[in-house]
Amino acid sequence: MAKREQWGTRTGFVLAAVGSAIGLGNIWRFPYMAYDNGGGAFLIPYFFALLTAGIPIIILEFGIGHKYKGSAPLTFFKIFRKWEWLGWWQVFVSFVISIYYVVVISWALNYALLALNLGWGDSPGSFFFAEFLQLSDGPMDLGGIVWPVFLAALLMWFVVWIVLFSGVKRGIELANKIFMPMLFFLLLVMLARAVTLEGAAEGISYLFQPDFSAIWDYSVWAAAYGQIFFTLSICFAIMITYSSYLPEDADINNNGMITAFINCGFSMLAGIMVFGVLGYMASQQGVALDEVVAAGVGLAFVTIPEAINLLPAAKFFGFLFFICLVFAGMSSMISISEAVCSGLMDKFGWPRKGTASILCLVGFVLSLVFMTNGGLFVLDIVDHFINNFGIVFAGLVQVILLSWFFKLDSIRQHTNAQSDFAIGKWWNFCLKVITPIVLGYMAIANLIGDIRVNYEGYDSSALLLFGWIVVVVVVLLGFAMQSLKSNWTDQA
Ligand code: ALA
Repeated sequence: MAKREQWGTRTGFVLAAVGSAIGLGNIWRFPYMAYDNGGGAFLIPYFFALLTAGIPIIILEFGIGHKYKGSAPLTFFKIFRKWEWLGWWQVFVSFVISIYYVVVISWALNYALLALNLGWGDSPGSFFFAEFLQLSDGPMDLGGIVWPVFLAALLMWFVVWIVLFSGVKRGIELANKIFMPMLFFLLLVMLARAVTLEGAAEGISYLFQPDFSAIWDYSVWAAAYGQIFFTLSICFAIMITYSSYLPEDADINNNGMITAFINCGFSMLAGIMVFGVLGYMASQQGVALDEVVAAGVGLAFVTIPEAINLLPAAKFFGFLFFICLVFAGMSSMISISEAVCSGLMDKFGWPRKGTASILCLVGFVLSLVFMTNGGLFVLDIVDHFINNFGIVFAGLVQVILLSWFFKLDSIRQHTNAQSDFAIGKWWNFCLKVITPIVLGYMAIANLIGDIRVNYEGYDSSALLLFGWIVVVVVVLLGFAMQSLKSNWTDQA
């Protein structure tokens, strides 16, 4: 058995973990999630989820990845043989995310190029849906391939392949050392521009102004927990995998906190930037902010281009915004794919180069579905189900198994033994009590909500095919993988 690969430096690991965390979730998803869920009121459950679930779980995942030195399936296998399926469940959730995530990055790459001559024209809304995606009537009508998206996705998969192929230190670490500093720099440039625009303050205060009536709604809590898990890349195999490449003497608690705070700080800044620009647009058009904002995916690809049209140096800032999405997205996309690659390598003893090649090829073929005329609808459904049921349920099961059926304290002792500061019993309490109660309630409420009302009014057949079946199949595949012969049986 070859020696496990390792990060070259501590900074290299932190950059990679932050690179995984910061992604489309921060720039594309966070602003519209906050907007859809009551603006400032969303931030209360968001920070509650960060402190009671996000940070404890990231430390937990760094701890077990480091202690057991394995991808998610191998780590769970080493903890208790019969839990391997949970690692695979998370790996398959990651895989499903990767096949649509790459398509959103591909839209962003197209938009970065379009920005160079404001190619979305005067009505970005109809451009995005009717001209760019040539959207069909619904998810069951896929139509044909959207070629510009296809070409960009091909390129993006190629980059992922090169990076995974080159390994942890020479591929993933290097890519993050390039992507992350550029991303921070670009964000600061855009932020400086956004906050000095006329009307920016109104936009920003909209984001932070609480609508307290919203915090009694369970769906706001569900959205906040889902967002924290998605944004921190926890409960879908990634952080376990990344920390399995840490050297013996790594500081776990500190690294976990740093990653979580940099990520959420980045989301706040991205939110301020996006809402600053929207505030400017509202003031230019003389309308209220809620009249200019399109919710959901439309926020980044419809409303932002509309706002960019009105900016001085529009082409320059348009390009910066979308290229930021590409950099942020790619560093996460690499981590999502590495979680899958590493699982397969551990299980079957396959070499990295071959595994990465097969994975990227299969991933590319499956992501074709999202590059079609109906792709946006399918993406919307898969994203909703895989976040609300895949990540949330896999997270719930992970937390319950590790805190109630395993010696949770042994992990705390492990991480404390080699960290600058120790975490106290509050950590156990969050994982044992608070998170299972809130998450359990929320998961069930979510389930009932989705059974009662068709998500976004989509046809039941489409929700069955792209939603329910997908979330059930990822669990079944987990058990199927567990039943296959492993290369690691002798190492546990
Ligand atoms: N954590 C990644 C994101 O926020 C997946 O996009």
